[in-house]
Amino acid sequence: MATEIVPTGDMVISGKRKGALEAYLGSCVGVTLRDNSAGLGGMIHVLLPEPTGTDTPYGPGTYASTGIPRFIELMLSEGASSQTMEACIAGGGLLGPVSEQDLFLDIGGRTTEMAGDILQGEGIRIIKAETGGMFSYQMTLCLEDLETNVQPMAPDGLHMAEEFNESHETVNIEYAISKVKPIPQIALKVLRMIRDQDYDMQEVASEIKQDQVISAEILEMCNRVSPGLGRKVDSIDRAIVVLGERKLFQLVVSASLSKVLPEKPGAYSLCKGGLFQHALATAMMSHELSVFTGKSKPDVAYTAGLLHDIGKVPLDQYMAAKRPLFYRELQKRGVELCQMEKEYFGVSHTEAGALLGELWELPPNLVEVIKYHHRPEMAGEDRDLVNLVFLANLIISRFHPGRHLSLSHGNGLEKRLNDLGLGPDQLPVIIDRIPRAVFEISVIGA
Ligand SMILES: [Fe+2]
Ligand SMILES: [Fe+2]
Repeated sequence: MATEIVPTGDMVISGKRKGALEAYLGSCVGVTLRDNSAGLGGMIHVLLPEPTGTDTPYGPGTYASTGIPRFIELMLSEGASSQTMEACIAGGGLLGPVSEQDLFLDIGGRTTEMAGDILQGEGIRIIKAETGGMFSYQMTLCLEDLETNVQPMAPDGLHMAEEFNESHETVNIEYAISKVKPIPQIALKVLRMIRDQDYDMQEVASEIKQDQVISAEILEMCNRVSPGLGRKVDSIDRAIVVLGERKLFQLVVSASLSKVLPEKPGAYSLCKGGLFQHALATAMMSHELSVFTGKSKPDVAYTAGLLHDIGKVPLDQYMAAKRPLFYRELQKRGVELCQMEKEYFGVSHTEAGALLGELWELPPNLVEVIKYHHRPEMAGEDRDLVNLVFLANLIISRFHPGRHLSLSHGNGLEKRLNDLGLGPDQLPVIIDRIPRAVFEISVIGA
């Protein structure tokens, strides 16, 4: 049987069989339990130490305080015993340079600590703990022998042993941009309509229908994001009724972007469709943060989140040649991605993205987000929007890791939160609001 991914907030228990359970952990924490004499094993993937309030969108499996006791109970009810059960803990890492102000350190650390305390309180022996540090981890429980394997995550096929000749190559950015697939016209139109809040829906629908590739993609995404509608959505007109205009707009831009972003893993994408998965997750989080803070417009925040890393597309081909070296250097030195890109290529993905955005004539507020999402303090007029996407990108990179190559630091995070009218103590509340759908993106396989 194949490997089963355990998404955030979930737990899986199984008897011995072929196959494995697996979780990708950034600041999240994974715990495996096994009882060799009962032939039983399981894994839980938690997001936060404890619920931040009564109004949370998640089930108990999302928090160490509620999920782990439940996980233990389930194991016991299946025939395990606390005397013979053994546990492994992984994750809680900090995926960026350590700074005193890095509030994420505290969250990952507290989740790890709480997991350990609960296990010890139940008298369960912890036989392995790989936590903290500056890595994402891949945690695997082999169901044949109930062994847990934890390793720092690296892109497919990359292991840390090989040495590469370091070479720096200045990118001819105009040429690189000319190689990028054009974004479908309909997406640009919709982006302008969202900005101007002025459109005729009939006209939009007929334009969407003219692009068969995008129409097909929209219907597929529509059926994926809205299951259980009774019958399949089979036309754009029905999609408008089922989704509403705004959601349809989001799908038009998402579907268009999926055609522009490279699908293959190997460069910025650490897995198939990795860049798109990251774009979609950041879009959903930006939307949620806009609703939560009342800053900017949720639709605009969504599209800004979707497009923020578009500059990785022209650089992707150069990255492909250097990826192993680049990835390892990033992790080793802990410097920010943009700084390494400048050193290696002479241009960062934020600069390349801004040029591409101008070429596509994207609305100026979106270009500003693309340009400054790693340095929001540099933003001008649309600082709120840039701050929203900065925060969304940081949260998604840490709690939904392993999709794309990035390293963004949390320096100045407190100031960014303040600008949005939030305090540092609200960070766990925001993390608690990561849309559930974010964790389903990889499961449905974008
Ligand atoms: Fe970025
Ligand atoms: Fe990003």
